Amino acid sequence: MTRVLDKKAPRGDHPRAPGAPGDPGFRHRLSRRGFLTTSATGLAGASLAACSGAPDGAPEGGAPGDAANAATTPLAATPLAPTPLPPPARPTAPTDAAWAHVRDRFTLEPGTAYMNNASLGMPPASVAAAVAAGYEALSREPIRAKHDLGDAIANRVTPRLATLLGADPGEIVLTRNATEALHAAAIGTRLEPGDEVLITSQEHPAGRRPWEYRATRHGVKVNTVFIPSPFESGDQVVELVEAALTPATRALAFCHVTRGGHLYPVARLCALARDRGIVSHVDGAQAVGMFPVDLHALGCDTCSASLHKWLLGPMGTGVLFVRAGARDRVDSAFAHDATPDAPNYGPPGTAGLPLRAGLAASLDFAEALGIENVAERTRFLSDQLKDRLAGLPGMTPLSGPNRETSCPGSTIFELEGVDAVEAVAVLAERAKIHIDEHQRDGHNAIRISTHLYNTLEEVERVVEELAALRGRASYPGVRSAAESPGGIARDLDVKGED
Ligand SMILES: Cc1ncc(COP(=O)(O)O)c(C=O)c1O
Repeated sequence: MTRVLDKKAPRGDHPRAPGAPGDPGFRHRLSRRGFLTTSATGLAGASLAACSGAPDGAPEGGAPGDAANAATTPLAATPLAPTPLPPPARPTAPTDAAWAHVRDRFTLEPGTAYMNNASLGMPPASVAAAVAAGYEALSREPIRAKHDLGDAIANRVTPRLATLLGADPGEIVLTRNATEALHAAAIGTRLEPGDEVLITSQEHPAGRRPWEYRATRHGVKVNTVFIPSPFESGDQVVELVEAALTPATRALAFCHVTRGGHLYPVARLCALARDRGIVSHVDGAQAVGMFPVDLHALGCDTCSASLHKWLLGPMGTGVLFVRAGARDRVDSAFAHDATPDAPNYGPPGTAGLPLRAGLAASLDFAEALGIENVAERTRFLSDQLKDRLAGLPGMTPLSGPNRETSCPGSTIFELEGVDAVEAVAVLAERAKIHIDEHQRDGHNAIRISTHLYNTLEEVERVVEELAALRGRASYPGVRSAAESPGGIARDLDVKGED
């Protein structure tokens, strides 16, 4: 019988260790170190500045007396800009101990385990502070702030993001999210009625719907190649895609990493497309920030990505890459007067400048840690998770069998007798653990996406809670579905599109 949570039942209590982000002393320590403090160095110079100071443990930067002054100075009278923390020292191993000082940079609520990074990353305090500083600056002096924020984006975000992605600065534009970029890339692709586009059965709706739009409005034919979940190897994917191409195929669109964490052989698929004069579109939403991505080396024509997932950027940030050499086949979706020298791929109109400028703080963080280390850390955590899940009766693993086919951060699996949507709601309510469902690709799967700030203790906790959920005996407050029409999953609206 399907059972749902009685909201009145007592929740699990998992006190945070002293000194961890949930510990009250942590907030105090963080604010003393500058989270809410201000200095007189100006917006572009400090709030968004690279943290080029000493690593953790070394004397901290900021004007003398900043922290003490900030506690007593009214905000309105204080020139805005939080004192930057020095960058976190680069961890030398993927273990919890080596990453403890990095976790200390997050302000997660006590007792909460956040393991839904594939949906939305949890930005470090420095990113939240940079965004707040940007909005404060706009309230204080909009003209100057717009200018300063624009400068910060042009000088401290776009070039560094391009370097991180293995692209030239002129090949990328900022967007609100991956979805916006995926639409711009698809709508801008030059296609005639009757031309064919090949997508896979594992596209996120954000990657599928723009092509459906082209089919409805422009007479383009969209073909879908079925890719099994999980698939056996990169070879299998390449063979299936190759077999599904036709002489009329003009564009090929697929994920670098799918929503469920399957890792595609991107370079080989792009080479296949290139050899046949087909435009290749990559959905990089689940890749950028999780592991190193070199777009020139991958050889794709476009790549659309979220920056608010694995890169831990402000919510509402994304990027569109269009290879310079693809400008003759991908037009601006917005500007009728774009030229190859001014391709104008970016969505027009007023943008969230504080959000975009806040990306500088995310890049500070990523550069300090090294994306390759982030990948190693996330892989370490998901390997441990997979090991622990393997001991659960009734568990069917659905992530790819090896590193060639599964990404470092996301793990999917089914648990016999457990509805995935319900499991998400119950774990959130009962244990303050945030995971997600993956009821796609024919699965009733649970998705756990671990990031650098998760710990083995949290991995242990989520596995224990899932074991208890399966047994139900440890959840005495769980009621039957008949007693709770609609169910908690519907109440909480947990089934979304991310
Ligand atoms: C594979 C994939 N593509 C695209 C998206 C959409 O990303 P965004 O919310 O940034 O538009 C997601 C979101 O989860 C995704 O998983």
